[in-house]
Amino acid sequence: MEHEVDTTLTVNGATVRRRIAARQHLVDFLREELGLTGSHIGCEHGVCGACTVRVDGEIVRGCLMFAAQADGCTVDTVEGLSDSRELEELQSAFVLTNALQCGFCTPGVLMAAQALLRDEANPSRERIREYLSGNYCRCTGYQAIVDAIDLVAKARAARAK
Ligand code: FES
Ligand code: FES
Repeated sequence: MEHEVDTTLTVNGATVRRRIAARQHLVDFLREELGLTGSHIGCEHGVCGACTVRVDGEIVRGCLMFAAQADGCTVDTVEGLSDSRELEELQSAFVLTNALQCGFCTPGVLMAAQALLRDEANPSRERIREYLSGNYCRCTGYQAIVDAIDLVAKARAARAK
């Protein structure tokens, strides 16, 4: 029988207590146990960024972390940040610039973009590209994604003046 671990974590503001299979990855737990399917599973090797979630304020690869390792942690997913409207400005910009096609990469890209804009005021387009280099998009060619993030960065910088 697979080893299970009593785990308590906060997911999108709600306390979750579960016995979790020790080897279940965080993104699988969020999707399969909690129905939070906004975080996607692509490569499962930490390369593509589709599984990006926030743990204690920092973005992580949900496919590289065991769910049980999140014991005592605060986990935020794209659903939580959408509901709190933290992503609203970025989401609107993505629609405006057509920064998504199939949308598979989009939750991870939004999570990464929000982390960048939270930590760095008005990053250059080069910096946006560099920061997003761990988020693969097979559809857009990245130009429109960078346009969207740049739009939000400039708008926030203008408001901060
Ligand atoms: S599924 Fe986690 S980085 Fe690709
Ligand atoms: S929009 Fe399809 S992978 Fe990015």
